[in-house]
Amino acid sequence: MDFTRTVLVRRMIRAFKPDPVPKEKVERILSIAQHYPSAGYSQEVAFVVVTDQARRKRIRELRDLRSDAPVLLIPCVSERIVHDRYHEPDKIRSGGKEIDWPVPFWYFDVGCSCMLVFLAAANEGLAASFAGSVGIFKPGILRKELGIPEHYEPVGVLSLGYPDHASNVPSPSLNRGRRPLKDFVHYEKW
Ligand SMILES: Cc1cc2nc3c(=O)[nH]c(=O)nc-3n(C[C@H](O)[C@H](O)[C@H](O)COP(=O)(O)O)c2cc1C
Repeated sequence: MDFTRTVLVRRMIRAFKPDPVPKEKVERILSIAQHYPSAGYSQEVAFVVVTDQARRKRIRELRDLRSDAPVLLIPCVSERIVHDRYHEPDKIRSGGKEIDWPVPFWYFDVGCSCMLVFLAAANEGLAASFAGSVGIFKPGILRKELGIPEHYEPVGVLSLGYPDHASNVPSPSLNRGRRPLKDFVHYEKW
């Protein structure tokens, strides 16, 4: 699919058809998602793929997900891997100090990887969405359920499947409309 069209077709879909997603599609999407940029090429992001029905149900309950997508993807990020990377000789500061982190780069990196999932899914004729119910998400329980190592933090749950446009209820947030481009881009100076 043409890149611009892929970007415009991508939407957060909340209703999915029950049809299973072929494994090759999931693998293609995740191999694209692995091309995310990362600070110091730390590569601190990992995904857990869940298709087992009973496990999906348990995760949906943990996450208070209403949609029943055939595939759940759990993006995880390890802050520790980034700190370890920034202690390597080419990154460490004089006095053995790490850089002063301007922002938590690990969250930037996992966001980049998730965006690749969304775009690769759209390119495959699928939809992927992130629905974060703030306050309900229990990363500790999710980590235990999926055996995620302690230093990886699950940042949410992505639903993946064939979009069911007929049943999909778009987010009421969309009524806010898109901000004008002039408020988004400031040339030369804000
Ligand atoms: C970090 C994040 C959290 C979100 N949380 C929710 C959520 O809890 N429930 C929901 O329905 N949508 C959620 N969304 C989806 C946004 O509402 C959606 O991206 C936005 O309305 C723009 O719509 P679009 O992605 O279809 O272009 C979330 C999106 C992001 C990036």
